[in-house]
Amino acid sequence: MKHNFGAGPCILPKEVFEEASKAVLDFNGSGLSILEISHRSKDFEAVVVETERLVRELLNVPQGYSILFLQGGASQQFAMVPMNLLPEGGKAAYLDTGVWASKAAKEAKKLGQVDIVASSSDQNYTYIPKDYSIPADAAYFHFTSNNTIYGTEVFETPKANIPVVVDMSSDILSRTINVADYDLIYAGAQKNMGPAGVTLVIIKDELFGKSGRTIPTIFEYEPHAKAGSMYNTPPVFSIYVSMLNLRWLKNKGGVEVIEQENIIKARTLYEEIDRNPFFKGTAAVEDRSRMNITFVMENPDHEAEFLELAKERGLVGIKGHRSVGGFRASVYNALTITSINALVDAMREFEEKHN
Ligand SMILES: Cc1ncc(COP(=O)(O)O)c(C=O)c1O
Repeated sequence: MKHNFGAGPCILPKEVFEEASKAVLDFNGSGLSILEISHRSKDFEAVVVETERLVRELLNVPQGYSILFLQGGASQQFAMVPMNLLPEGGKAAYLDTGVWASKAAKEAKKLGQVDIVASSSDQNYTYIPKDYSIPADAAYFHFTSNNTIYGTEVFETPKANIPVVVDMSSDILSRTINVADYDLIYAGAQKNMGPAGVTLVIIKDELFGKSGRTIPTIFEYEPHAKAGSMYNTPPVFSIYVSMLNLRWLKNKGGVEVIEQENIIKARTLYEEIDRNPFFKGTAAVEDRSRMNITFVMENPDHEAEFLELAKERGLVGIKGHRSVGGFRASVYNALTITSINALVDAMREFEEKHN
């Protein structure tokens, strides 16, 4: 058995893989594959409608927000956000909590002024800055709620009197949120929503056309919203598999239920990291992510040996990002406590062998 701790694309529930593979051969008993049907077919329109309904229901999305399924990944959103929200000569505020946050800011800089309100780069992004003020004259404030590479997470939504934009790529659907606290939420699907290829955008309709810029239509939010994510050919298969995954989450009891499981999973692993003298966590304790758990070994010379042991135990994808080193266990919704226990067992086995 493999335990997939990959950071994304990542584990999805087995049931979802099984359903998806059936649909590749015969979608809804139509005699056609999901890969060959028209995106304008009634059957696929029903898929988009249900996927949107499930997002709305699972995240409690209020009226006045549109839900879009776009291509281009979260990285395309780094550019679309300023194109759509930052007026010519305007300013945007960004919180710098890592590589993804600074990549987002870099795109905004191409279109206007960027005010970095705070940064944790001084300590290799191992914490979330807390004391900063958000300029009231900025067009919007952007932050990353979960820093996939460093294993830090923002649990308290920053309060601002300007539109708040969040990159939730790696923690969306893992915990309850109040969508009304945000004006625009985006997330590449390939962690907790579905496979790579589709990007979720939840946007307050008031923001449409806000920058006043003339931008290529494909990068404008409003035409996608008006067309129900069918402005052009959408990523049919990725949306379909996302729908299956959202159904799975709903059947489990929804985000509230998975959040409790995620709390237990993360706690179990952090407890072992803190207890086991061979390992130590890298993120500030109060900012520890529930989705990406980063840790190193007290003796870096032990890391290759532990990685080998992990491989033997079927633990896949735990090598840390090159900018942090050590290990990173991504423990997304579909990863079960059984996999966490397998990793904890390997850590204990290593300890026993070396004591
Ligand atoms: C928080 C965060 N933002 C953005 C990205 C980039 O996403 P994409 O590859 O979909 O452009 C990632 C990728 O892992 C991420 O974790």
